[in-house]
Amino acid sequence: MIHLQAVDLSKAKTETLVIPVCEDKDIHDDPTIAALILRAKKLKEFKGKKGDQIAFYNLPDVKIVRLMFIGLGKLAKIDLEAMRAMAGTAVKECIKKDLSEVLIAVPSAAKTNLPDQPLLTALTEGACLGNHLFDKYKKEKKHKPLKKINLLVKAAAAKKHRKLSSRIATICQGTALAREWVNTPPNEKVPEQFARSIARLARREKLKVTVWGEKELKQQKFGALLAVAAGSQHKPRLVILEHKPHKAQKAIVLVGKGVTFDSGGINLKPSAGLEDMKIDMSGAAAVAATLIAAAKLKSKVNLVGIMPLVENMPSGQASRPGDIIKSYAGTTVEIGNTDAEGRLILIDALAYGLKKYKPRTIIDLATLTGACMVALGEKIAGVFSFDDKLAQEIVSSGEKTYERCWRMPLPEDYKELLKSNFADLSNMSSTRYGGAITAALFLAEFVGKARWAHIDIAGPVYGKKETAYCGAGGTGFGVRLLCDLLEV
Ligand code: BES
Ligand code: MG
Ligand code: ZN
Repeated sequence: MIHLQAVDLSKAKTETLVIPVCEDKDIHDDPTIAALILRAKKLKEFKGKKGDQIAFYNLPDVKIVRLMFIGLGKLAKIDLEAMRAMAGTAVKECIKKDLSEVLIAVPSAAKTNLPDQPLLTALTEGACLGNHLFDKYKKEKKHKPLKKINLLVKAAAAKKHRKLSSRIATICQGTALAREWVNTPPNEKVPEQFARSIARLARREKLKVTVWGEKELKQQKFGALLAVAAGSQHKPRLVILEHKPHKAQKAIVLVGKGVTFDSGGINLKPSAGLEDMKIDMSGAAAVAATLIAAAKLKSKVNLVGIMPLVENMPSGQASRPGDIIKSYAGTTVEIGNTDAEGRLILIDALAYGLKKYKPRTIIDLATLTGACMVALGEKIAGVFSFDDKLAQEIVSSGEKTYERCWRMPLPEDYKELLKSNFADLSNMSSTRYGGAITAALFLAEFVGKARWAHIDIAGPVYGKKETAYCGAGGTGFGVRLLCDLLEV
């Protein structure tokens, strides 16, 4: 857990103090800390440059056993993300040393030119997120997360921001939960298991939980979803979570793609990287974790999360290229490619969400296309919306949380790329260019005039290498973004 502490350093009970250091300016208010920094900077090997790190042990005149200095670089370059990264690095270093507690000295907001609330938010986020480990499948657990993370602040700030820091910690728990689900191997999160895991945690927070199986989905004619599920031994699920603090207010509906493993189906993917296709349920993970966080925080907004869960597999029962299916909305779709399965499960979930909830806003998150990664790389999500304000709000929340988003176009004339000779639409574009856009346009066909946005998160949900505040694997992308956007 995270604690804001306002103590005199000479009385601090901690054994470990982390001091962030700026290369060219003093950024701390406390003269004791400023003096310690001067001592560290006397060394040739520590100048406070970005990436610089040094530790002092048992200084004769200092009661704290360990002093760790972390360089932030030049003042002009220090932003909130640098603070997040610093806090994450600090926590990770302590974990590596097998410590259980740390105190991080919070720099002065005024001296860093950063507003104080976002500064504390960023430090709390970096520290909480850096404290998450995923070693469930290792016999030998090398390290343990810290038990307690303390931020050293002034008394007034401790009082003012206590609520904020516990709220941020809860949201980061949501990010960690999404990471866990994403990292879970696909043999342990088939739709039935993933649905059960979501339902169990959601019920604990008193969310209304609905889980439909194949029978209900057939009765209600979720034809597109069922066509994707057909190839797998493991039956599909549709999970719906509802958080309804207001009787009258129209809900915001979130839809998350939940393909627990995407083999491509009959259009089987190549071997390279196939194991990574366990991440194809990251949209559902982010939506479920957001609803759970919203319930924990007793959020005032009415929220609904809809998660279509399927496994996309080849088999004798699988849908084929050329098959024509009827979606929940009644539109027929020719399956041009069984690997374009995400859009099929999403159109049924979107159509159902619109019909049932008549939401004021509907947003879907999906690891929808490799093309979006070609366009924006591995760290930035693509945002598609006809609504300028909604798109801008998402991009802004992305800047604030550093879950970065970039708006992409929805050109009317590209729609013809989705024409089928035999059905109302094809799920496959007739060109290989602009794949993220044509996928989004396909979804757009099913949202009518609703206030809708689609976020293609294929890139940023996963990282092969660890970063300052995230281990290798799932990043939990989307939870902090949505919580900020919806003011959960
Ligand atoms: N799940 C994939 C998209 C994806 C690719 C996510 C890489 C994360 C990393 C999606 O279902 C898919 O296979 N999309 C195809 C669409 C194509 C067949 C039109 C793609 O991107 O190649
Ligand atoms: Mg696919
Ligand atoms: Zn997929």
